[in-house]
Amino acid sequence: MERLNPDKLPQHVAIIMDGNGRWAKKRNLNRIAGHQKGIESVRDVVRTSRELGIKWLTLYAFSEENWRRPKYEIDTLMDLLNRYLKGELKEMLDNGIRLACIGQTEKLPQEVQRTLWQTIEKTAHNKEMTLILALSYGGRQEIVQSVRNMLEDIEKGKLTVKQITEERLSKYLYTAGIPYPDLLIRTSGEYRISNFLLWQMAYTEIFITPTLWPDFRRERYLEALLDYQKRERRFGYTGEQIIHPKQEKTQHK
Ligand code: IPE
Ligand code: IPE
Ligand code: MG
Repeated sequence: MERLNPDKLPQHVAIIMDGNGRWAKKRNLNRIAGHQKGIESVRDVVRTSRELGIKWLTLYAFSEENWRRPKYEIDTLMDLLNRYLKGELKEMLDNGIRLACIGQTEKLPQEVQRTLWQTIEKTAHNKEMTLILALSYGGRQEIVQSVRNMLEDIEKGKLTVKQITEERLSKYLYTAGIPYPDLLIRTSGEYRISNFLLWQMAYTEIFITPTLWPDFRRERYLEALLDYQKRERRFGYTGEQIIHPKQEKTQHK
């Protein structure tokens, strides 16, 4: 395999971990077995990200819409999450990983909330990498919530309508202080973003792989990163402007 260029790594990778159910179905197992196996991929990807020096990793673990699933599956997912957090604390502390979360976490079961906040607190001083779990997360709901909070600040006189800019709005999102994702990976071959980081992904590079999440291990991840390194991120500029930034800068000042 070609080598990764350590100077061109994404700062922030976001992943839609999809395909656990299909992984299990292919083996005549129940969906839960797929979720269990998927946790091994989570460990692998977190470890690899930390080793490579990726600073931010956001994992879509449970969407706002996932509350529509059968109660048994939700309960089991919550239990797995709780156990994952407890089991990973030592590894996070040993490796300088800080935990953060985004989403309507107040909807999570009390026990999970407790473990989540404890882990966040205990890892708050870690500086090597931030692992962000998207839990009960929905991009539209996030935007609605930030608009509400912004309007409240206007009512209180803390903000004026004229002061609302892209930058200001982004500070009201769950992801305030977190850079926008450079790369989105979605496993299991679905070509959709399923209400994930709608605002934040305006210029994110997208990598979709048919690999099901429980099979998405280090090698597959490295392939995605290698693919990312071949992209030319233009942000609206022409390709020539990207290749000769200095010349263009003077012309456009
Ligand atoms: C992703 O796998 C895990 C969660 C959404 C929690 P799925 O459970 O969506 O797996 P498929 O899409 O049914 O294969
Ligand atoms: C997206 O996967 C959410 C997570 C990975 C947590 P889904 O499997 O829920 O997405 P849809 O329903 O197929 O779009
Ligand atoms: Mg799915």
